[in-house]
Amino acid sequence: MKKRKGIILAGGSATRLYPLTLAISKQIMPVYDKPMIYYPLSVLMEADIRETLIISTPRDIEIFKQLLGNGSKFGMHFEYKVQEKPKGLADAFIVGADFIGNDNVAMILGDNMFYGNNLCKILKRANEREDEATIFGYYVKDPTAYGVVEIDKDGNAISIEEKPNNPKSHYAVPGLYFYTNDVVDIAKNIQPSKRGEIEITSVNAEYMKKGKLKVEKLGRAMTWFDTGTHDSLLETASFVQTIEKRQGMQICCPEETAFRKGWISTEELYSSAQKCIKTEYGKFLNDLAENKV
Ligand code: G1P
Repeated sequence: MKKRKGIILAGGSATRLYPLTLAISKQIMPVYDKPMIYYPLSVLMEADIRETLIISTPRDIEIFKQLLGNGSKFGMHFEYKVQEKPKGLADAFIVGADFIGNDNVAMILGDNMFYGNNLCKILKRANEREDEATIFGYYVKDPTAYGVVEIDKDGNAISIEEKPNNPKSHYAVPGLYFYTNDVVDIAKNIQPSKRGEIEITSVNAEYMKKGKLKVEKLGRAMTWFDTGTHDSLLETASFVQTIEKRQGMQICCPEETAFRKGWISTEELYSSAQKCIKTEYGKFLNDLAENKV
C-alpha cells in the first residue's frame, strides 16, 4: 500500500475562543483530562499513520514541541513547521510540501474530536483508497457553519460548498481529509475565498471535478465535535468526562493506541504512566501496562 503521512493543523488565532486564546494556542487547551491535540493525534494513529507533521503558529510551535517531542513516547515520528499567517486550511499542504514528499497524506484539524465504534474500519477504508480522496459526512441539524457535501448512492460527492446559507444536504464535512499526493499541486493553484483563505472546500471541489472524491458517512452512533467555541469546548469535555468516569477507560489516549498497536513497549508505557500517576489518566496507563484493562 502507498505510504501515507499525517498532518495536524494546530494554527489559527481562535478568535471564537477569546479571551482564552489571547496568549495560548487553542489546541493546547484542556478537553477534560488531556490537551486538545491528543484527540486528533489518536485518530491519525488509529489510521496507522506514524509520521506526522504538526503545523502551528510562530508563537505556539514551541509549546507543541515541549508537549509531544519527537513522537517516540507514542511510537511516532513528529516533525514541526510554522505557518506564518493563518492563510486557510489548504495552506497546510503548501507549508508541508517537503514533508509530504512523494507520499499520500491525511490531514486532521487540531480541534476536531472523533469517537465511535466503527471509526477504525472507516479509517482503514479511507487509508486503503490510494488513488482517490476521502472526506467524511456527518449528519447535523444545521450544517451552515461547515463545509456541506451532497452524496450519491455510491458514496461519491456530487456537490460541496463552504458554509452555505441554503445547504443542499445535512452532511457537514468534519476536519479530517485523506488525499493523494497531488493535493500539494492542487493547493498551490487555489485562489483565496471571500474570507481571504485558501479553502479546503476548494481542494475537495477539485477532486470532485475529477470524479475522485469519496465520502464516508459517519453514522449517528459516531461522535464528532469541533471544539472551536466556549460551548463546544465545554460540551466535548463533559462528554469525555461522562464516558471515562462510567467506563474507567480513556477516550483518545495516544499511549494506549501506541501500546495496543505494539509501537511502544510495556516499559515505555509504564514510564509514561509514572509521570502522571497522580491522575486517573496515569492510573489507567499503569493498569494497561499491568494487563488489568
Ligand atoms: C473548517 C472548514 C470546514 C469544515 C470545518 C470542520 O471550518 O473550512 O469546511 O467543515 O473546518 O471543523 P472553520 O473551522 O474554518 O470554520
